Amino acid sequence: MTDLRKNYVVSQGFDESGRLFLQHWMWKAQLGWDLHPVIQLNGTDEVRVADHGCGNAAWVVSLATDLERAQRRATFIGLDVQDAHFPAAQNLPKNIKLGLLDAFTEDLPEEHIGKYDVVHVRAFSSVVKNDDPSPVIKNAYKMLKPGGYFQWDDLDGGSFKAVAPGSDPTTSMVSTAATEDLVATSMQSQKVAMNFKFSWLGRLGLLFDEHGFEVLDDKRLEVKKELRSVMTVSLLMIHAHIARVAVRNGCLVGTDKKWEDVWAKAGEEIGQGVSLTMDMLVTVGYKRA
Ligand SMILES: C[S@@+](CC[C@H](N)C(=O)[O-])C[C@H]1O[C@@H](n2cnc3c(N)ncnc32)[C@H](O)[C@@H]1O
Repeated sequence: MTDLRKNYVVSQGFDESGRLFLQHWMWKAQLGWDLHPVIQLNGTDEVRVADHGCGNAAWVVSLATDLERAQRRATFIGLDVQDAHFPAAQNLPKNIKLGLLDAFTEDLPEEHIGKYDVVHVRAFSSVVKNDDPSPVIKNAYKMLKPGGYFQWDDLDGGSFKAVAPGSDPTTSMVSTAATEDLVATSMQSQKVAMNFKFSWLGRLGLLFDEHGFEVLDDKRLEVKKELRSVMTVSLLMIHAHIARVAVRNGCLVGTDKKWEDVWAKAGEEIGQGVSLTMDMLVTVGYKRA
């Protein structure tokens, strides 16, 4: 049986890769950029970028396209602890390489030390264990050249909620009670069975500062109304997967609720326009030159 406390629980299959492409599209539609505009790379001849936990390399490929359009010379390395979602190397532009690396390693290979202008992390809320992303931040600091930037974008699992359609939930005729129950059941299971904790997400800026970065931005965004449906689909996909792994005797581990009932009742509300949302967080740190 999978040890939910130790292992990364998200699927290694095509469904998860599809979800990551969807999620990348959502981030780009929300922010309008892959690289935060505060990041100034003008003094750099050839920009070197590393992406931890790159998944299917959607962010890397997207940024590479943008920088090529802007006629910036750049090389990219997408790093992940597993290669399940990597596209074939032959299908990638020559300036993108992918490789294996544990973002939490205490033994960062020499080849990565002091080499990058930008280090990026996205969507690590189900990756960080013990509520502590410090090892990733330490490694990013080591990997950057002086004058380099660390950008972390994430969804705050702790802000997971059900939202009625429209701008003013108090005037909505649609109930959110069953969807709130889905959220509460999922959160309970993630806490008890998988040991996920999310309070670190609200402290990223502080943690960047503690690890020597100058914090250039540290913000929390509500997903745009027009993107609530894509976020809902993406969150349903991940929770359907977690449920496939974590349901025992019909109940989500750590709860006494029949998952199928919870899921079906929430589905009715979602069909009437209720959304699932999480806050979107962006933190950018600068390694002083
Ligand atoms: C939710 S996905 C996000 C993928 C990508 N960053 C994105 O936003 O599309 C999390 C990724 O982190 C990877 N991962 C899990 N544990 C890791 C670790 N210890 N070090 C590096 N990557 C890890 C997973 O394999 C997966 O590709």
